[in-house]
Amino acid sequence: MTYSLIIKGTGFTSRDRQKVDVLKDALFLIDDHGVIAEVIERKESSYDSILAKYEQSEYFIALGENEYLLPGMVDLHIHAPQWAQSGTALDIPLADWLHTYTFPLEAKYSNLAFADQVYSDLVAQLLGAGTTTGLYFATVHQEASFRLAEICAAKGQRGLVGKVVMDDPEQNPEYYRDGSTEEALNATEAFIQRVQRLNETTKQGVYPVVTPRFIPSCTDQALDGLGKLAAKYDVHIQSHCSESDWEHGYVRERFGKNDAFALNDFGLLADKSVMAHCNHLTTEDARLFAETGTAIAHCPISNAYFANGVLPLKEYAEDFQLEIGLGTDISGGFSKSIFDNIKQAVMSSRLLEDGVNTRLSSTERGVPKSSVTLNEAFYHATAGGGQALSLPIGKLAKGYAWDALVIKADVPEARLPIFDQDEALTDVFQKLIYMSQAANIRNVWVQGQLVHTKGATNGNHN
Ligand code: GUN
Ligand code: FE
Repeated sequence: MTYSLIIKGTGFTSRDRQKVDVLKDALFLIDDHGVIAEVIERKESSYDSILAKYEQSEYFIALGENEYLLPGMVDLHIHAPQWAQSGTALDIPLADWLHTYTFPLEAKYSNLAFADQVYSDLVAQLLGAGTTTGLYFATVHQEASFRLAEICAAKGQRGLVGKVVMDDPEQNPEYYRDGSTEEALNATEAFIQRVQRLNETTKQGVYPVVTPRFIPSCTDQALDGLGKLAAKYDVHIQSHCSESDWEHGYVRERFGKNDAFALNDFGLLADKSVMAHCNHLTTEDARLFAETGTAIAHCPISNAYFANGVLPLKEYAEDFQLEIGLGTDISGGFSKSIFDNIKQAVMSSRLLEDGVNTRLSSTERGVPKSSVTLNEAFYHATAGGGQALSLPIGKLAKGYAWDALVIKADVPEARLPIFDQDEALTDVFQKLIYMSQAANIRNVWVQGQLVHTKGATNGNHN
């Protein structure tokens, strides 16, 4: 067996939802496909001989003191075009926000040069923030959507990209929608084929995603046609589901049932489906998610602005065994960082458990057993995201892709408060997750390829 990369370092990876394994000074042997062939821990008898064998290899890297490995972050919900308005315009409810700010911005991506500029910057910045896999909504424009897939391919990010479908002339502005239902479906099919061809040229994988924006944007004919296309090509599906009171209510009025059942009627809930938000699912809806293998993209920062409520993350993960990853929802969420969303997932879950209205007694205020631990939120950001996408990513473990980050704890501009060289590694892990900044993320690999070192991302001349 030849290896393309042999790394010696201390890493942290989820064993299951609750437990994080500490792999102290382990050896990670990466094969030619960028897949982890072996993880050898120090206690194993072969450790010394394997270390001696590869230590002098040109493919051997030993992490320095104060450097740690984490699996790459999986972002299950990014609106790439909205990067241009990130950090602004979060002051009005969802429907108004879409029509006032978001649709006019997304319409601009008919201009390929603009798309190129924003998407190149976004993918580079996401890699720098530790996001090794991104599930993206682009816009209705086929060409600009394909540019995003090409940029992911070129920069080495694992990108899953959807050309957005919004074909209902009643619901979408004339300046920003598909020309007709037929056009929307034809463009989606052509897009799927083009991205599948592009995928053949990449190591890490780029994937087309069937993407009805949300039920309010689409005619029944489009939803039906998209379900059929997803089945024909066996591709991923993404949409928004039961995000806000308004959106949830709109679907109930139109179909007399909830989003989940309406989407399922069109063949849009399946093992490779990832639905954003889902804050207003009922227990029947959640059961349907479990039965169909549909995953949730939990976007806790965005939810604080638009969702009118907190997702019962723990209940869905434990009682319903749903697949759940995290998403930034750029730009419904202002942050590009999944680290920030790990923190917010923990904080929101604690607010759900305790409740927020102090005029109520503590026994009436919250939803018991709702809070999640940092380990649990980390699981959703990594292994949970991989499971949602049905891809072997999100763990530093044999058989998984080498998607990994080196976090350096002692960079001068963002030194983590570690003063005791013998500090328990479980505590170091918590500091890495709660306190790392982009400056701490030194190296980023996707599928065994180094795609970012601090200050420079593939294809960026900076
Ligand atoms: N629902 C439909 N479109 C969007 C969007 O762009 N962002 C969010 N958060 N929700 C949506
Ligand atoms: Fe969204």
